[in-house]
Amino acid sequence: MDLRFTDAKPTDEERAAVDACLGAPEVGWEGGERTAEELRWARGGHAARARRDQLLPALHAVNDRVGWISEGALDYVCRRLTVPPAEGYGVASFYAMFALRPRPARVLHVCTDLACAARGSAALTGALAELLGPPGGAAGGVRWQPSPCLGLCERAPAALAIQAGEQGPQAHGTDAADLADPVDPAHPANLTGSVGPAGVAGTTDAVHPPYRTGPVDRSGLTGPADPRGRVDRAGLTGPAHPTGSASPATAADEAHPAHPAGAHAPAGSADAETAPYCTAVVGPATAGTAELAAVAPCAAPEEPPAAAAVPQAGQDGLVLLRRIGRVDPADLDDYRAQGGYSALRRAFALGPAGVIREVLDAGLVGRGGAAFPTGRKWEATAGRPERTHYLVCNADESEPGTFKDRVLMEGDPYALVEAMTIAGYAVGAHRGYLYLRGEYPRALRRMAHAIGRARARGLLGPDVLGQGYAFDIEIRRGAGAYICGEETAIFNSIEGLRGEPRSKPPFPVERGLFGRPTAVNNVETLVNVLPILERGAAAYASVGTAQSTGTKLFCVSGTVRRPGVYELPFGASLRELVELSGGVPEGRRLRAVLLGGAAGAFVRPDELDIPLTFEGTRAAGATLGSGVVLLLDDTVELPRTLLRIAEFFRDESCGQCVPCRVGTVRQEEALHRIKDLTGAAAAGDIALLREVGAAMRDASICGLGQTAWNAVESAIDRLGVYAGALPGSGPAAGTPADPVDGGVR
Ligand SMILES: Cc1cc2nc3c(=O)[nH]c(=O)nc-3n(C[C@H](O)[C@H](O)[C@H](O)COP(=O)(O)O)c2cc1C
Ligand code: SF4
Ligand code: FES
Repeated sequence: MDLRFTDAKPTDEERAAVDACLGAPEVGWEGGERTAEELRWARGGHAARARRDQLLPALHAVNDRVGWISEGALDYVCRRLTVPPAEGYGVASFYAMFALRPRPARVLHVCTDLACAARGSAALTGALAELLGPPGGAAGGVRWQPSPCLGLCERAPAALAIQAGEQGPQAHGTDAADLADPVDPAHPANLTGSVGPAGVAGTTDAVHPPYRTGPVDRSGLTGPADPRGRVDRAGLTGPAHPTGSASPATAADEAHPAHPAGAHAPAGSADAETAPYCTAVVGPATAGTAELAAVAPCAAPEEPPAAAAVPQAGQDGLVLLRRIGRVDPADLDDYRAQGGYSALRRAFALGPAGVIREVLDAGLVGRGGAAFPTGRKWEATAGRPERTHYLVCNADESEPGTFKDRVLMEGDPYALVEAMTIAGYAVGAHRGYLYLRGEYPRALRRMAHAIGRARARGLLGPDVLGQGYAFDIEIRRGAGAYICGEETAIFNSIEGLRGEPRSKPPFPVERGLFGRPTAVNNVETLVNVLPILERGAAAYASVGTAQSTGTKLFCVSGTVRRPGVYELPFGASLRELVELSGGVPEGRRLRAVLLGGAAGAFVRPDELDIPLTFEGTRAAGATLGSGVVLLLDDTVELPRTLLRIAEFFRDESCGQCVPCRVGTVRQEEALHRIKDLTGAAAAGDIALLREVGAAMRDASICGLGQTAWNAVESAIDRLGVYAGALPGSGPAAGTPADPVDGGVR
């Protein structure tokens, strides 16, 4: 591809896809024929440049419609947004979900990452190669390719099929949550946001039966019935939208010269809801089911409900997972009937400073991996004098073995909408971005739907709950880049730049998205704010330990009997969690547990009494990270697992800084050389690994490089992987009830 504008033209389909996302070009300078007048002077250039943040949605639009991004299409997108083609190419080539060379419209992503590898992904890919040819081919109009973790680890081995250019995912296998929920005639859509607190509190008259999957009554929908069951778009782009400067605060924001107008593009961006593609998730996959899904994803059977990923679903005592399986994820009234929006009402009663006080007193600590106190982050953001503040919800969830945020978004989407509204209120933001992993089609649909319904009912928009506070949420879909989960890389990704982390300081609370003070929080972190406000800080903090308050979600996967998301109070031991999940299968022996994901650390079977707290895991030289608990039994070849971790970091390094760019490659090479060696034969490479690991840890710009050696180091030092025998593995400890010994059911 030539990195300058060429004569390549978009096809009609590509042009239509881009125009559907960006609107039709208004002047010839934006990619159409120029008039004689336009050849003398330029109009619209500044406006187009200010829409740079539409680059990623526009690339998605083409990729979704056609399956790949041609030179003509990229040129057209770049002209429309006045982005130099070299930069457009740099962005498009950054993301794994985009292709810049022709490929079939149907692509099957087959996970070969840690949990799937432990559950037979090698056999699956071998069988697929026989059926469909080698990976990367195009047999039968399908391309299949290995993929990093798809966030479906409880269903390992898992695969995701995507078909570009077909009717949207809602067109098939639709469950209730994918449809617009019927509007109660007593509470019609309220686009002007005049629903008051009493309205919300008092209208939860009908307690719905538990999560329904039956047909949805479409009478009373606010928009024209859409045969594809799409979310109605009333209120998405209409005059009631807060970008229409309905609130004084929003108007002030827009007047700010440094603020790109693109930041105020319609919320619930087009790409979240109108993308023309089909998806199918398969798991546990066989070659046959994966092939079937790849050939006809639009006709694939419906996925199991989110509650299927929660073995505790429906049990008493759950806090964050309490509604999963009980609430209809499509139905706002059902959410309200189950306590929804009481936390937001309390937030309005407390005021922003009062909310931050509660969160500080509750001791809430971020669940995205860095364990930073949420109240302090909010306080720092709220206290900045600049007028425009932003909230970003980090739903990128790409740490191998992590899937809790997906389950929360699929099973209880309004909870996140409510929590984001509270967070926005506390930090003084009028706009929140939900940066959602591109490989999460169902979470995307459900969040887009929930945001649309909340907006239609005045729970988002220019006057939330009639309290004079303007807030709206825009979804931004990631496109397959683990690094975009790093909080500053998200900013670059949203702004239409390559998703490379920024140097800190300045920290996001000072200069974040669009250079403005920004609070970035993980999905699970935000959802914790609801029980804090509903029950009060003291009640919340009475659960857990002094430094780790509340409950924690754990993503249990690998060779385990009952994989899934578990909720436990902080302070429970790893042993309790392993027992709850049934331990390793009958006749197997636990060999190691990876805590915290690829960036985490291995622990031995004789270390199961580690308390699952931030301080407890730290003291044990491990980390909770994003809540990954990957069990590996004695059938798993640990050197192969380490190699996979190293490959992951090599692939996902953004390449911006030398220690990480070079170090992750050297690490992978060394692990490759010693994959079948132990003792003296491996010693030279282990010494090299230590040297490279120290350089990455000390000198990398961001957490990816800083943690890329953690798991490997722990496997060498704690598990003695290359030493021969595994310390602590010993003979089976085994009473029949020992989870280490495959006896617990
Ligand atoms: C390479 C890398 C990937 C990350 N991925 C995620 C992610 O997918 N989700 C997330 O919430 N945090 C992720 N983080 C952590 C974020 O940078 C940030 O700390 C977090 O979103 C802050 O939210 P919290 O305070 O609520 O935890 C990642 C960090 C790094 C270094
Ligand atoms: S540490 Fe790695 S991922 Fe992070 S900025 Fe440097 S090269 Fe990029
Ligand atoms: S989906 Fe395969 S490891 Fe997560």
